[in-house]
Amino acid sequence: MDELRERADIVQVVSRYVQLQQKGGRYWGLCPFHGEKTASFSVSPDRQMYYCFGCHAGGGAINFVMEIEHLDFMDAVKLLAEQVHMDLPQMIGDREDGATRSQKERLCDANRECARFYHRQLWRQENAHVLSYLHERGVSDSTIRIFGLGSTPSQSDGATRAMRELGFTDDELVRAGISVRRDNRVYDMFRQRAIFPIIDARGRVLGFGGRALGDAKPKYLNTGDTPVFNKRLGVFAANLLAKQRGLKRVILTEGYMDVIALTQAGVPGVCATLGTALTIEQARLLKRYAPEIWVSYDGDAAGQHAILRALEIFEQENIPARVLDFPDGMDPDEYVRAYGPQSVEKLEPVDAATYRMKQESGQHDLSTQEGRTAYAIACAKFLSRVKEPVELENHVKRLMMATGFSREVLLAQIGHTEMIEQDKRAVYRHAARPLEEKASGEDKETAAAERLLLLMLAEQRVDAGTVKAEDFLTPFYRELAQKLLSGMTPGAILEQMDDEDARSRAAAVLQRESGVTDGLELRTVSDCLRALQRRRIGEQIAALQQQVSQLSGEDKRNVLLKIQELTKERQTAGRKD
Ligand code: UTP
Ligand code: MN
Repeated sequence: MDELRERADIVQVVSRYVQLQQKGGRYWGLCPFHGEKTASFSVSPDRQMYYCFGCHAGGGAINFVMEIEHLDFMDAVKLLAEQVHMDLPQMIGDREDGATRSQKERLCDANRECARFYHRQLWRQENAHVLSYLHERGVSDSTIRIFGLGSTPSQSDGATRAMRELGFTDDELVRAGISVRRDNRVYDMFRQRAIFPIIDARGRVLGFGGRALGDAKPKYLNTGDTPVFNKRLGVFAANLLAKQRGLKRVILTEGYMDVIALTQAGVPGVCATLGTALTIEQARLLKRYAPEIWVSYDGDAAGQHAILRALEIFEQENIPARVLDFPDGMDPDEYVRAYGPQSVEKLEPVDAATYRMKQESGQHDLSTQEGRTAYAIACAKFLSRVKEPVELENHVKRLMMATGFSREVLLAQIGHTEMIEQDKRAVYRHAARPLEEKASGEDKETAAAERLLLLMLAEQRVDAGTVKAEDFLTPFYRELAQKLLSGMTPGAILEQMDDEDARSRAAAVLQRESGVTDGLELRTVSDCLRALQRRRIGEQIAALQQQVSQLSGEDKRNVLLKIQELTKERQTAGRKD
């Protein structure tokens, strides 16, 4: 990693995507992560980090590649290594040995060749009925090419034989899910179907979906689990998602044909799960492509139920999600076919709480007092999770209309469930944000800690002898200090931070010019250290003062003496040398 960081200079890495101009010690350009007309995106070569003053995105070279190429950490490292022509050693966490990796590559090769074969079949005379099937469903030739759709060949082992000719063994074909072995004979897995290749973000063909041409069962046959494919981990059309820049939202649908119809209608950023309920892995994958997900499942009961479950998963993963509901129980494909390509733009997504309220209302008989009460109680449960007060107000207003309860009663009901829910969630929230700094009221400590970090960055002579990580009170700053002292660049430090909020906050601190005084008294390292020490002693005093009232006699006297001692110490710490 050290070698990679040395070779992959952040200015060069960013320059591949953003036009940069040097001004002072920094480079500036238009932020690739949010739309803007004046440059607020900065790159600091000395700190090996970037920071956007507009959207507060920040990090090191690896973060940049992860964000812009929508890659996970490992893949970003691999891409960077490739760009600087560096051979990667066997990586920890990359538990695959060389043999497994090359076997996988071989299966992906077989899949890619097979996808090409199916695609060529589609234009052959003997498979004209498959092409007409797609045409009749409104799929244009150019859409067919974009998705690489195909047809199975007319013979039941046509694909198997074509792949053998390209040098793939029967074992490999069976393992890739292209062929099946029965009674010691090897046939094609897919027969008499239209073919939808499943391609990942890196452009590798992982498997296939095959649509029956008529009412044959199953309607869709998918590649089963193979060494390269697991339908719970990926989505259909990930390859197209990865090519999009600056997507505002991803639309998640249920089916192959929904993705194809919406894409053909000019809607960008559409993908689908592959016949399973949304998994956490898929949710995390989608999060990489846009700040928000719109869930757009079929209008039938199963689809609507799946939306509620998907919303739970997004919420659990802290991913903003809304629902794009298609009217009259239609799926997106049917809707586009019925109302035309422009009709999709007119649909407005609704927020999770509004959608849940609407679904919940179908479960209760609102003409009875009993039903209205049960409805109000059910809604209070999820309304307690609405964070924005103004949004909550809107929901409460609607709930008042529907149930006849007063605002006060409804808010009380929501508050009541909130308290129960809070206990459950506190644990999670804490675990998710280990670096959370304490709320305001600690401005002095914050100023001193941040100033000290910048002095450490600016002055080489601030070494472990002068400043120690323990001088910082808050774990957030202590960790930053400790890493700076160990010689890491700010960019490298940011790369180790998984939590986006924490990284953004750290980037905001670490990008600052060390010369900026902020109008503070804190000019030197010892000023900062003293401020921090005063703060620490102050905290000790406060803790002891709490005890005093509960003590008596000897104990009380001892604590009072200790307080006196600390107060003196604090005064000394305040004095200049
Ligand atoms: P749907 O039954 O809603 O299919 O299943 P659809 O997308 O509307 O298909 P068309 O329009 O009839 O062609 C949704 C998704 O569930 C998976 C597929 O991924 C499908 O796109 N599925 C469905 C299967 O894997 N197998 C099946 O037999 C049916
Ligand atoms: Mn459909």
